[in-house]
Amino acid sequence: MTTQLADEELVPVKQFLSENQQQIVQEFYYQFIEMEHLYESAIREVKTKLEILDSEFRTKYSYNPIHHIEDRLKSPESIFKKMQNKGIKFSCEGIRENLNDIAGVRVICNYIEDIYHVAELLTAQDDVKLVQSKDYIRSPKPNGYRSLHLVIQTPVYLSDRKELVNVEVQIRTIAMDFWASLEHELKYKSDVRVSAELAEQLKDCAEQISDIDLRMQDIYRTLKEID
Ligand code: GTP
Ligand code: MG
Repeated sequence: MTTQLADEELVPVKQFLSENQQQIVQEFYYQFIEMEHLYESAIREVKTKLEILDSEFRTKYSYNPIHHIEDRLKSPESIFKKMQNKGIKFSCEGIRENLNDIAGVRVICNYIEDIYHVAELLTAQDDVKLVQSKDYIRSPKPNGYRSLHLVIQTPVYLSDRKELVNVEVQIRTIAMDFWASLEHELKYKSDVRVSAELAEQLKDCAEQISDIDLRMQDIYRTLKEID
């Protein structure tokens, strides 16, 4: 249900802020919109790179290493919250320098080996710089979470300049994604705190899923050799 504001509550901002303050708010607003456009564009650049790699594989080897791609732009609310938690002074420069996950691309691959292959091909491109790599597949998080996390820097060409923009790329298998999606749902969406026993069960599920990932990859390799 939407809350209706009474007429007297819809007082223009002008009554609360000085002219100088209005100017500051307006400038920040325009800078923020420009920054969002930049990150949206960087997402498109990275997705296009990944789609081209995937379609090339289809053309050459009749195989798609990527099952599907998801993306998200961090919401202003989450940006504000993270900046506050980090105790960073609020400005667009501060956001760009301190947050690596404003632009997020999630690549869901079929098999574990596809993850490393896609990561290698993406980061080998001339205009892509690898800023950070966290391999939660070789070293899973204590709760069982698995994925390869990269932060890459990619250029975005604007009308008057080139901007280098950081994009967080999470690469995982369908099986890892299945676990991470449900675990996220359980952890963040439920009101009840996950007990130690349930956490242990979730971790056990992650390990079983990881075994299945390896078995599926073995089956795939065997069939490929037969082909
Ligand atoms: P953030 O401040 O949350 O971005 O943490 P960070 O900068 O230390 O990055 P980290 O390597 O922990 O990865 C952050 C992102 O990975 C999260 O926003 C999630 O999308 C995903 N992620 C990390 N850990 C988990 C986890 O335990 N469960 C699930 N479902 N997702 C996770
Ligand atoms: Mg994050």
